[in-house]
Amino acid sequence: MKIGAPKETANGEARVALTPESAERLQKLGYECLVESGAGAAASINDSAYEAAGVRLVSSATELWSEADVVVKVREPSVDEIEAAPQGKTVISFIWPAANEDLLEKMKAKQMTVLAMDMVPRISRAQKMDALSSMANIAGYRAVVEAGNNFGRFFMGQMTAAGKVSPAKVLVVGAGVAGLAAIGTSVSLGAITMAFDVRPEVSEQIESMGAEFVFLDFEEEQTDGAETGGYAAPSSPEFREKQLEKFRELAPEVDIVITTALIPNRPAPELWTEDMVAAMKPGSVIVDLAAERGGNCTLTKADEKLVTDNGVTIVGYTDFPSRMATQSSNLYATNIRHMMDDLTPDKDGVPVIDMEDDVIRGALVTHQGELTWPPPPPKIKAIAAAAPQKKEVEETAEEKAARELAEMRQSLNRTGWLLGIGGVVCLTLGAIAPPSFMQHFIVFVLSVFIGFYVIWGVAHSLHTPLMAITNAISSIIIVGALLQIVSGNSTVVWLAAASVLMASVNIFGGFLVTRRMLAMFQRS
Ligand code: NAI
Repeated sequence: MKIGAPKETANGEARVALTPESAERLQKLGYECLVESGAGAAASINDSAYEAAGVRLVSSATELWSEADVVVKVREPSVDEIEAAPQGKTVISFIWPAANEDLLEKMKAKQMTVLAMDMVPRISRAQKMDALSSMANIAGYRAVVEAGNNFGRFFMGQMTAAGKVSPAKVLVVGAGVAGLAAIGTSVSLGAITMAFDVRPEVSEQIESMGAEFVFLDFEEEQTDGAETGGYAAPSSPEFREKQLEKFRELAPEVDIVITTALIPNRPAPELWTEDMVAAMKPGSVIVDLAAERGGNCTLTKADEKLVTDNGVTIVGYTDFPSRMATQSSNLYATNIRHMMDDLTPDKDGVPVIDMEDDVIRGALVTHQGELTWPPPPPKIKAIAAAAPQKKEVEETAEEKAARELAEMRQSLNRTGWLLGIGGVVCLTLGAIAPPSFMQHFIVFVLSVFIGFYVIWGVAHSLHTPLMAITNAISSIIIVGALLQIVSGNSTVVWLAAASVLMASVNIFGGFLVTRRMLAMFQRS
């Protein structure tokens, strides 16, 4: 069958759903690839690059829609595009079915099989097809770059001959895919980065990236995300109040705010209010990634950049991925290619709609003249279903001292008992065993005792290097072989020489392995 990508018709859209790399992989699945001439130009992909990858160029969208069996797109097709298209095509694209019921009806009437990339469920197997995440990742990165472009200072702190430069303070609200990408970019540029999310389980991830999680002094029962498809559940009004209170406290000190908070199929929560904007320093920047859903900042205007009276720049662009069209086309086309991989189990260039496949069923919105949206919930649990960890209750100084004293007493008691029992056993043995036995026995008991305490104190991760070094030390038996090597008996000399060789391997090998292993634990 033929798979083709037309030029995007939406205003300003620079991405393309098929790249030369993805086309090469699709051809291996048995498909012939077509592209409308000039479709990749805005993403810096020339027609010649497509031709070199074996893609056939067609001169118009009409020709492409009529020739291709599967049409891949980035933005949802317009109603006009669908009306002009022949019956029975398979369409793979962002569709946003909840907001495009008219379009769905039109596609259903045209007997189209439509797979919405925005409906791919967030389950681990589908990560490679998760175009929302690919695009959000780019948007998060670009949001920081855009903020930097509108911010009059460095991100990182510097000590210069002309004076000290303080690092910028960045607050990221919402640590989903876009938020985490923004945190990573901001940290790598050297800014002091803080982040907040209603899901406390992301705090460790945020901290491991070098940012600070903004904790609220508030207890709220959280869902584990499974029943919400891996997304956050709406928070209570009390929680929201606490959250706003915290943001009000932070507003005068942060230089850049990047908001990405969203709960799917809901308008964006309003989290950065007018008074917070007013409290920010002149020159501060807000980049509101949730602009297309109304914005997390009250003053955001979708697709616009504005400067408030107090000099705060608010960026509400909704096309960040398109502003990095080469990167986003590559990732999006790869997501589509993986989807086609899933749709073509026999690699014979014929897509198969398997209703039992959670990913395909989730993304399918119309099929055989039927509306198949909304899909049933996926059978597999969502990725982000990690159970929230209960925060440990911190103990006071007195409680800590009392606990340590009790532990010390317990340990002394145990040691006392062990020493007592050991003493009685030794005395009893001493009364009946010969003196030569007792001498060896006491050395044995002491070595067990010392060995036990030495090894007990070594961290588990260091047990393997410890064994390697013990191995090397145990080759002290080389001394015996060296003493025997001067013997007059040639057999003994040969045996001793072999022992020296083997013990040497053990000694040098043991020390070498230990050195290498310890190097793995050392910071460069
Ligand atoms: P996501 O669902 O992965 O992350 C959203 C995060 O917001 C979640 O971690 C959630 O827990 C958190 N959240 C929800 N309510 C919150 C609240 N009241 N306070 C704090 N955190 C809250 O979404 P993703 O993929 O990261 O996208 C984020 C936003 O970026 C969305 O609004 C999306 O539409 C937008 N976006 C914008 C683009 C643009 O060009 N402007 C491009 C791509 C995505």
